[in-house]
Amino acid sequence: MCGIIGYVGASTSGRGLDVALEALRRLQYRGYDSAGIVAANQDGLSHVKRAGKLEVLEAQLEAEPLPAASAVIGHTRWATHGGPTDVNAHPHLSEDGSVAVVHNGILENHAQLRRELTEAGVKFVSETDTEVAAHLLAHAYAAQGDLTDAMTSVVQRLEGAFTLLAVAADNPHVVVGARRTSPLVVGLGEGENFLGSDVAAFVAQTTSALELGQDQVATITPDSVTITDFDGNLAEAKPFTVDWDASAAVKGGFATFMDKEIHDEPNAVRDTLLGRTTGPGGALQLDELRIDESVLRSVDKIVVIACGTAAYAGHVAKYAIEHWCRVPVEVELAHEFRYRDPVVTEKTLVVAISQSGETMDTIMAVRHAREQGAKVVAVVNTMGSTIARESDAALYTHAGPEVAVASTKAFLAQIAATYLLGLYLAQLRGTMFADEVRTVLAELETMPAKIQSVIDGEGDIKALADSMRDVTSVLYLGRHVGFPVAMEGALKLKELAYIHAEGFAAGELKHGPIALIEDGQAVFVVVPSPRGRDVLHDKVLSNIQEIRARGARTLVVAEEGDTAVTEYADKVLWVPRTPTLLAPLVAVVPLQIFACALATAKGLDVDQPRNLAKSVTVE
Ligand code: G6P
Repeated sequence: MCGIIGYVGASTSGRGLDVALEALRRLQYRGYDSAGIVAANQDGLSHVKRAGKLEVLEAQLEAEPLPAASAVIGHTRWATHGGPTDVNAHPHLSEDGSVAVVHNGILENHAQLRRELTEAGVKFVSETDTEVAAHLLAHAYAAQGDLTDAMTSVVQRLEGAFTLLAVAADNPHVVVGARRTSPLVVGLGEGENFLGSDVAAFVAQTTSALELGQDQVATITPDSVTITDFDGNLAEAKPFTVDWDASAAVKGGFATFMDKEIHDEPNAVRDTLLGRTTGPGGALQLDELRIDESVLRSVDKIVVIACGTAAYAGHVAKYAIEHWCRVPVEVELAHEFRYRDPVVTEKTLVVAISQSGETMDTIMAVRHAREQGAKVVAVVNTMGSTIARESDAALYTHAGPEVAVASTKAFLAQIAATYLLGLYLAQLRGTMFADEVRTVLAELETMPAKIQSVIDGEGDIKALADSMRDVTSVLYLGRHVGFPVAMEGALKLKELAYIHAEGFAAGELKHGPIALIEDGQAVFVVVPSPRGRDVLHDKVLSNIQEIRARGARTLVVAEEGDTAVTEYADKVLWVPRTPTLLAPLVAVVPLQIFACALATAKGLDVDQPRNLAKSVTVE
């Protein structure tokens, strides 16, 4: 995980430090157990690093400011090797202070390198894997005199996944970055340039960016960017424009990013649908899906790979895509997929869903699928991210930057994007008539307003959460598309409020979970629409009665007008009338609001829950 920023500008001023601190604020979702900054100017390197959240570093910088600088690198950490202490925080400097590095990833051969360096007399001060890179770089720099050449030779010796940034004490006009598997993007400014773990690092400064490929080194000066491969040969990097509004990554008057991001949900869905229904006769057009139509027609299986919340979006999509396309859809956690020897052929379409586009488990699964000859469509939110780049096609969700660690608006955007993909395949393969596709698209277009109406009723949900702040266990039941919604609701509560929560398929209740029901046990039940799939509705209604009879406190998410539920519900959270397959887009919203409000009522940090990171870039 970890967030990284590099800055180099034409003059020695306070701007570099301001840019770096701003970037670290925006990158905190990648890690927040310690942070550090190193500033380079004509007098050499000065640095400060502190365990704890970024505020600790900021307070330290307030008390003892670093000198003005022309180059700055900064880091916000999610500890892997060595606990979150001041000493283990990044940057790491070489013994002689000639170079400083920050690192994201894991250097798998660090123990062996540490042994070698120790035998050669190097004294280590931290427990991190990163420190070996600082010492190796200093030795290479002393021998070669050029930071890029030194970096190129050091990365040859490193195994594992890494992004490294370095500055040298005797050259405050250059920052060098290198990446293998871990992310790094270049931001292009006027008389200044940037390196960041992702575009959130510099989107407030520039929207002009370069995607770096695998195994590349980027050398930035105030007026140049040079990209090479790990052998030092000049390499290409793809330019792109970041379409995020910089203001989208600030709280904008909300108490937390999560609260704001839940309020962003109508826009996230609207923007994801935007411009994709413009084909002839209103046909669905997915310009980004640059995979030969004949290949898409011949697909005989779809496998969705993802982790966490994104995987639940995949579970929702399975119901819709199978129904619309008549193609079997498997949903697999990316980390299980790769090691299971899955049956994947040239006729398999793999759909990789990821908000960050940097989840290492998902990246590895994408690579495995492509090695087996499958085509991979990435459903990602972050432009220029590794999963987008390494897939055959990228279908972007336009949720805008998601900063809170637990995913909310990206989940809704992922459902919308995978639905577009399903409808597109159905249109292409002829399993739906054009007017049927248009009807679903028209219904999808009504969803932002419906999501908004659920959010408008948040006061009621927050009051419920407030009354439940002492609860120690909550169960979630759902059926059909409501099942993944129940699991996502439970995940949100675990992540944010640290409360034991489980999501179950309502039909499974009688096969085990019902044993958990005792007096007062809180159970959310996601009730399907009584229209359309009435059999499902009635079965879930019976489930509610079964648990209520055993003492459960029933909290029911139901469609407006479904008066049949009121009799069995201790509390009903109403959502607007919606066709069954689209219902997750509204049904999950009260569960997100509830988890966020309950965690807030307990005084917890909802944006940065303990032990979690937003972008899990280690396997
Ligand atoms: C982490 C985050 C989750 C997220 C999951 C997948 O576990 O805490 O919120 O759902 O990673 O992330 P991705 O960026 O691939 O969607």
